[in-house]
Amino acid sequence: MVDTINDIKHVASPLARQTLLDGELTRPVAGGRPIRLLPWLQVVKIGGRSIMDRGRDAILPLVDELRKLLPEHRLLILTGAGIRARHLYGVGLDLGLPVGSLAPLAASEAGQNGHILASLLAPEGVSYAEHPTIANQLAIHLSAARAVVGSAFPPYHHHEFPTSRIPTHRADTGSFLLADALGAAGLTIVEDVDGVYDIDPKGPGGDKAKLLGATTAADLAKRKGTLPLDRALPEVMANARHIERVQVVNGLVPGRLTAALRGEHVGTIIRTGAKPA
Ligand SMILES: Nc1ncnc2c1ncn2[C@@H]1O[C@H](COP(=O)(O)OP(=O)(O)OP(=O)(O)O)[C@@H](O)[C@H]1O
Ligand SMILES: [Mg+2]
Repeated sequence: MVDTINDIKHVASPLARQTLLDGELTRPVAGGRPIRLLPWLQVVKIGGRSIMDRGRDAILPLVDELRKLLPEHRLLILTGAGIRARHLYGVGLDLGLPVGSLAPLAASEAGQNGHILASLLAPEGVSYAEHPTIANQLAIHLSAARAVVGSAFPPYHHHEFPTSRIPTHRADTGSFLLADALGAAGLTIVEDVDGVYDIDPKGPGGDKAKLLGATTAADLAKRKGTLPLDRALPEVMANARHIERVQVVNGLVPGRLTAALRGEHVGTIIRTGAKPA
């Protein structure tokens, strides 16, 4: 009889012998809370349509406010896409482009707004960083500068869900996913309204709109009307791991962003599905 020496290298893994589809089996290993990568980071999403498209009247005072916040906070500033993306969707849809082709084009418009903002903050050492840099080298950049600017769009590109012809995961969803993945201290969404209202305050009957001081992702998901946020955001918030609340504030009112970053309630606070640590 010949002795066979089995020299196959077995790699021990608690998940090796089970399907990853069974939550009961994976929970003991995968059910824990992830670590916070950048627990001191504040993420700020600046609206493309609501702030950047307004030009200097809206941008310069906000840049001034951001500049003054730098000694107090380390920031990841993410910009939305705004009017150029709307034009691009119009042309692209007319030509029949698939959603996966439109997503990176809209993301590059959000990036253009980021380049503009970063240029204005350059004297403070702030630069624009592309997604791969944000994903892999944000810590080193933020040890050299107090803030980094990026595109708020998630880089789904051709992986964008074909749920609709317009990308469903846009700037608000991208900002939230990033803030939650990094385990940031907070996310503040900057708009041109005081927060989320029961109806669009600038739409028909808007004079009767009521500001929601506090709400939940579950409540927003149920609301039928328009929101100043991506529709996909409440869905993503429901499964958050770290970010327990997001505040939507008016960036046209000086001091609101500063107050929000100091933990004051100055807009609409949205509770997510993340459980307190
Ligand atoms: N329920 C609502 N509460 C508050 N604002 C609303 C609501 N519904 C619609 N709006 C409108 O949404 C506008 C902001 O638009 P939007 O959120 O598309 O801009 P943005 O966030 O700057 O864009 P982007 O996502 O490209 O960065 C507000 O000026 C407001 O008129
Ligand atoms: Mg918005």
